[in-house]
Amino acid sequence: MIVDIINKKRLGEELTYNEIDKFFNAYLDGNIKDYQMSALLMAICINGMTDEEVFALTKVFIDSGEVLDFDGIIDTMVDKHSTGGIGDKTTLVIAPIVASCGVPVVKMSGRGLGYTGGTIDKLESIKGYRTDLTDEEIIAQIKKIGIVVTGQTADLVPMDKVIYALRDVSGTVSSIPLIASSIMSKKIAGGADKILIDIKVGNGALLTTMEEAEELSRLMIEIGKIYQKEVKTIISDMNTPLGYCIGNALEVEEAMDILRGKEINNNLYDLCIELSTTMVSMGKGISKDEALEEVKNSLNKGRAYQKFLELVKAQGGNIEQLEVSDNILTIKADKNGTINKIDALEFGKLSVALGAGRVEKKDKIDFSVGIRLTKSIGDKVKIGDVLAKIYYHKKIDLPNIDTLFEII
Ligand code: URA
Repeated sequence: MIVDIINKKRLGEELTYNEIDKFFNAYLDGNIKDYQMSALLMAICINGMTDEEVFALTKVFIDSGEVLDFDGIIDTMVDKHSTGGIGDKTTLVIAPIVASCGVPVVKMSGRGLGYTGGTIDKLESIKGYRTDLTDEEIIAQIKKIGIVVTGQTADLVPMDKVIYALRDVSGTVSSIPLIASSIMSKKIAGGADKILIDIKVGNGALLTTMEEAEELSRLMIEIGKIYQKEVKTIISDMNTPLGYCIGNALEVEEAMDILRGKEINNNLYDLCIELSTTMVSMGKGISKDEALEEVKNSLNKGRAYQKFLELVKAQGGNIEQLEVSDNILTIKADKNGTINKIDALEFGKLSVALGAGRVEKKDKIDFSVGIRLTKSIGDKVKIGDVLAKIYYHKKIDLPNIDTLFEII
């Protein structure tokens, strides 16, 4: 009985593979109601899962759809995933860097929900850019230019699509077993041989403590072992927005600035170098020092930027048509001092209020709005200095400056 399975998890007992398989597949088939699945998800969120249960859940997720296979097309397929953050446009930067170093990249990304943005929304701010490539188109493009960044196909882990939507509205997004099986099932079904996970920690992330991040890391590495996939993790800060821009077209511009060597001195640049170096090292089986040299070379010689332009063109985009709103408000310092904090969560909320993100899945995004920070942590400021520019269309009440910045 359905209710017996919910009760078993409520009491903190271990579910069998068959129970997990039966329950989740019945939900996918429409034979279990949202409120019953929400009850089970909440019981999982509160009582956790054993490793065996997480392995079972991951398998049920993978088996719910197609599993892509790039054997004979790509020698070693390295994939990367971020658990999500504010201003996280790393994929736009690292995919072209890694591909230009000779490691093919097939990246299937998602949309943003809540305060965290999604790569697919950012790319759709480029007029004409297609994010719905078919399996055949993905294979043709990877053979031709060695890089694809597209949306997840409908058949890739369909179970995750329905469960994630329900988690989002049932307060069960930050469960470590649910995050691990959601992400790992998509990476494994997507055909990755090696996987790099960027686990974000901080007030703008799903996880807020190092202990949680380390537990998620351990669990993902264990799942990888079962499928003979090498998994590496990086734990990175999400108390401060990543880079200067939050909002779709603005983030594409910022990614291009890094690829053109215009911006090389901030948390975004450092993380992009670390992620791409690790991916190149994993993909080519070379040391991180050697990989770093290749990454820097590709950036300095403009190869990574050229690869980005090639990607945009191949997927039908016109990079000249990137629209950023002309309506600009500024946030100015109200005292002299040093910037001690730029609050990721508050900026995430502000970007959603402007229309750059979604509150609900059906919401339409305004690609041209967002925020450009003009100062970083540690910068000295005087009263009246501009700290951030707000690109808007609809009028909103700006939050109090003290919630966004701490100046000491
Ligand atoms: N990203 C995912 O794809 N799934 C999660 O559960 C959390 C972040």
